Amino acid sequence: MENLNTFIKAHKNRFLDELIELLKVPSISADSAYKNDVIKTAEIIKQRLQEAGCDTVEICETPGYPIVYAHKIIDPNLPTVLVYGHYDVQPPDPIELWDSPPFEPVIKTTKTHPDGAIFARGACDDKGQMYMHVKALEFMTTTNQLPCNVKFMIEGEEEVGSESLSWFVKQNQEKLANDVILISDTGMIANDIPSITTGLRGLSYVEVEVTGPNRDLHSGLYGGAVANPINILTKMIAALHDENNHITIPGFYDGVEELSAEERAEMAKAPFLLEEYKAALDIDAVYGEKTYTTNERNSIRPTLDVNGIWGGYTGEGAKTVIPSKAYAKISMRLVPNQDWEEITTLFTKHFEQLAPKGVRVKVTPHHGGQGYVTPTDSTGYQAASKAYEQTFGKTPIPQRSGGSIPIVSLFEQELKSKTILMGFGLNSDAIHSPNEHFGVWNYLKGIETIPWFYKYFTELFK
Ligand code: BES
Ligand code: MN
Ligand code: MN
Repeated sequence: MENLNTFIKAHKNRFLDELIELLKVPSISADSAYKNDVIKTAEIIKQRLQEAGCDTVEICETPGYPIVYAHKIIDPNLPTVLVYGHYDVQPPDPIELWDSPPFEPVIKTTKTHPDGAIFARGACDDKGQMYMHVKALEFMTTTNQLPCNVKFMIEGEEEVGSESLSWFVKQNQEKLANDVILISDTGMIANDIPSITTGLRGLSYVEVEVTGPNRDLHSGLYGGAVANPINILTKMIAALHDENNHITIPGFYDGVEELSAEERAEMAKAPFLLEEYKAALDIDAVYGEKTYTTNERNSIRPTLDVNGIWGGYTGEGAKTVIPSKAYAKISMRLVPNQDWEEITTLFTKHFEQLAPKGVRVKVTPHHGGQGYVTPTDSTGYQAASKAYEQTFGKTPIPQRSGGSIPIVSLFEQELKSKTILMGFGLNSDAIHSPNEHFGVWNYLKGIETIPWFYKYFTELFK
């Protein structure tokens, strides 16, 4: 790979400026008030892919937000890499906890990022990581070193369930035909401990509503005599875990694969410092399912969490009231072999059955998706591993992640190819949180590592 490092050095400032421009547009897919910004972001990306050397670039309309598709086909007999990423971002709330405005990117140094990090919503998830691929392509096309074909598919609904992308993928198998899918939308252990994500968890997300009396009541006149939906809801939620933090939904663990002692021992080799982990979160103890380690709890084990709970009076001062309704949003992270639709059904049945007489329960499923595991003996993984060896000087550690990219299992089903997850973010980069950031070093390291993936994948591919 000739001139890679000099190219990156020479264009570093422009690479940063271009990303900063992209980060200024608030492409919040969850909030329809930002519709025009989401669409505008797709157009910017289309433009940038064109400038980076793609020979076809299109905005593909869908029932929802558009998908940016682009490709550069140099020879149909050579392998094809399909790059996937997303240009939408999470809402920035709670906005008052940001040290600088979420859509006015700034570069600041931090303890983990002594070379600086770009602070903005979407910096790491996923505009920064997606844009590394655009710049890696620019390098390969301008220096005439693209060794194979490349396709890009960048969507705008990842943070809200990728519904339009599912529709698009099912209709465009031929257009999207590829030999491997490459995604940078995950993380790695640390800048000096490179890792490749080999697994993603599935997801089932539901909203529950508990209704008691037909109106809010005076809590003195009625208190004690009718079911209070908030009291009941919290009881029902508490009953979803037992004393070992096992989930109590009948059948929930039926499909769950138990890792062998050897596999668990292998996992335990990944560097992890419990004291640092606790210190970074300001907690005096970790908490979770009995007999599993922290790294197991957040990757190979399924979980159930309340994401939000509301109802009754939460304004200033005190109002004595028994509310008519209480609500919660509940997510379950799933592991491979747990079918998300089946789990949603099991949850619904169990939750309805937990409700005592005197309240009514409604469960509304939101989005979901299956988990994914990528084999480490595939050509794609081997190529990625060699690429990291080249640029980090170390063999990357395979690591299952706790996060979800539900569309990945659909890619396998519809496009019949494996996905390689080359993530360059860190857990401390605060994705989905206030003060999200992405290390400048990580951004440039990604741009440096990606071209090597193309080279090794093309060489290893038969
Ligand atoms: N990029 C994340 C997923 C992720 C982050 C996986 C870090 C592994 C490591 C993605 O944008 C995301 O936030 N996914 C959602 C699911 C989606 C259906 C809203 C998630 O994991 O909560
Ligand atoms: Mn993401
Ligand atoms: Mn995300």
